[in-house]
Amino acid sequence: MRIDKELGALTGIVKAIFALTVLIFVALVILWTNPQSFISKKVSPEDWTPKNPETDIPADEKLVKYGYQLVVESSKYMGPLAKNPKVRYAGNNLSCQNCHLKAGTVRGSASFVGVSNRFPQFRGRENKMGTLAERINGCMERSMNGKAMPEESTQMKAIIAYMDWLSEDVPAEREAEYKGFVNVEIPDFKADLVKGKTVFIEQCIRCHQEDGQGMRPDPNEKHVYPPLWGEDTYNHGAGMHRILTAAQFIKANMPFEEATWDNPKLTDEEAYHVAAYINSFQRPQKSDPEADFPNKKLKPVSTPYGPWVDDFSAEQHKYGPFPPIIEWYEKELGIKKTK
Ligand code: HEC
Ligand code: HEC
Repeated sequence: MRIDKELGALTGIVKAIFALTVLIFVALVILWTNPQSFISKKVSPEDWTPKNPETDIPADEKLVKYGYQLVVESSKYMGPLAKNPKVRYAGNNLSCQNCHLKAGTVRGSASFVGVSNRFPQFRGRENKMGTLAERINGCMERSMNGKAMPEESTQMKAIIAYMDWLSEDVPAEREAEYKGFVNVEIPDFKADLVKGKTVFIEQCIRCHQEDGQGMRPDPNEKHVYPPLWGEDTYNHGAGMHRILTAAQFIKANMPFEEATWDNPKLTDEEAYHVAAYINSFQRPQKSDPEADFPNKKLKPVSTPYGPWVDDFSAEQHKYGPFPPIIEWYEKELGIKKTK
C-alpha cells in the first residue's frame, strides 16, 4: 500500500516536470520565432491614445497620483479649502482642470500630454528661458490668482511628476495635436459686447448662470460650474483674460461636453464676442502687471494691460480690432504676432 502511494506521488512529480518542460519549450519556440509577443506591444503612433489617469496610474506611483489629485481638486488640496494653511497656494477655488480639461488630457484645452517634453522653453512674459515649474507657477499666480509654489514643495514635485507621467509615452508625431488650443480666425473688427451677451445667454447661462458665478451648491466642495468673473476666478493677468486666448479655449471646449476641438459649436466670431463679454466684468487684479514682459515688444497684442511699445489704446488692446496692431508690429519692428 505505502509503496503504491509513494509510486503514485512519484509519477505525479514526473508528470509535473514533464508538463513544465513542454511549457518552457513552447515558450522558447514562441520567443525564438516571434520575440515581439514577449515584449510589451509597442503601439504605432496612429493607434496611440493618452493614458487615462483615472485608471492607469500604478498604485506605487504615489507622487503621480497626488499630482493628479492636485490638478483635479486644486482648491481642496492646495487652495482656499486646504486644511493646512501653508499649502493654500491657489487664491481661488478653481481647479487646474477647469481649463485643462479632464486633468489635462483633452485636445484643444492646452493639455498636459507631452508638456514635459516642451520645457525649458523661451518665455516672452519673462524674456528668458523658463522651466516647467515656472510655467506652472505662471498659472498659479494668474489663472489660480494665487502665490508661487516653491520648486522643492511636494505639491510642485507632484504636479511635475504627473505631467512627466502623462508625457512619457507620447509619440513625437502626436505631440503637436495635444498642444495648446485650436485656431481662431482673428476678426478685423472690434468685439461686440451686445452680441457677446446674446451668445452668453443662449449658450452659457444654463451652467455658468446669468451672473457668471457658476454653481457651487456646497461651499466646502469645488465648483460644479466654475465662475467666469467676480472675486473667485482668474485674475486680469491670466491668459484667459486675453480675449483671443479665451476665444480659442471656448471654441473647442464650450458648451462643455458638446464642443470638441474637431467639432466646435460656436463660430469663430461667436467665440470672439462671448470671450469679450465674459472678460468685460470685474475680476481680481494681478499685482505688479507692469513687470510682465520685460521686453515689451514681446507682449501679445491682446494683453489688456500696459505698458505697450505701440500707441494703440488700452481699449483696442482689450477688444480689438487686432489686425491693425499685428500689422504695425510686423511693419515697424519686423515681429510676427499671432495673438
Ligand atoms: C482659468 C483657466 C486656467 C486655469 C485654472 C489653469 N490654467 Fe494653465 N493655462 C491656461 C491658459 C489659457 C494657458 C495658455 C496660456 C497662453 O497661451 O499663454 C495655460 C497654460 C498652462 C501650461 C503650459 C502648457 C503648454 O503646453 O505650454 C501649463 C503647464 C499650465 N497651464 C499648468 C496649469 C496648472 C498646473 C494649473 C493649476 C495649478 C493651471 N494651469 C490652471 C489657463 C488656465
Ligand atoms: C453644460 C454646462 C456648460 C455650458 C453650457 C458652458 N460651460 Fe463653460 N464650463 C463648464 C464646466 C463644467 C467647466 C469646467 C470644466 C471642468 O472642470 O471639467 C467650464 C469651464 C469654463 C471656462 C474656464 C474656467 C473658468 O471658470 O474660467 C470658461 C472660460 C467657460 N467655461 C466659458 C463658457 C462659455 C463662454 C460658455 C458659453 C459659450 C460656456 N462656458 C458654456 C460647463 C459649461
